[in-house]
Amino acid sequence: MKAIIAYVSTHHGNTEKVVNEIKKECGVEAFNVLEEPDRDLSDYDLIGLASGIYGAQFHPKMVAYAKEHLPQNKKIFYIMTSALDKNFSKSMAGAIDGKNAEIVGTFSCKGYNTFGPFKLVGGTGKGHPDATDLANAVEFFKGIAK
Ligand SMILES: Cc1cc2nc3c(=O)[nH]c(=O)nc-3n(C[C@H](O)[C@H](O)[C@H](O)COP(=O)(O)O)c2cc1C
Repeated sequence: MKAIIAYVSTHHGNTEKVVNEIKKECGVEAFNVLEEPDRDLSDYDLIGLASGIYGAQFHPKMVAYAKEHLPQNKKIFYIMTSALDKNFSKSMAGAIDGKNAEIVGTFSCKGYNTFGPFKLVGGTGKGHPDATDLANAVEFFKGIAK
């Protein structure tokens, strides 16, 4: 199965860390949507959409990219890092609407956060993603890619 991960990671590179670990350990292709906003996904069977969470949403550029470039009938998965470590993937529903995508998995972990007032207290989720988060992410990917 040919896999690729598209990501956006603008706050502390937390999501990028998770994606890079999967890339390193599993040899999967990955790219930054802000650097390659028109990358074609038609050759891939399994597509990861990865983002930090901003205002309870995937990054607007990820939403726009998926809307425009996710082909029909693909297996997809979500990766996100956030302060709350909750599943915010509902924010992608509009982007994949009508594409007949099969969502095969969702991975979430905490990410270091210094947004707004949190900066004053040294941020939240310091050190995340940590080694355990990264190992969990690799296990997650291995589980869906087999
Ligand atoms: C502008 C902004 C808004 C954020 N909003 C949320 C939020 O609504 N919920 C949450 O759990 N975390 C929120 N966070 C924390 C980020 O999701 C978290 O730090 C994430 O790991 C950032 O990923 P990145 O470093 O890959 O960009 C926010 C961070 C920023 C900068």
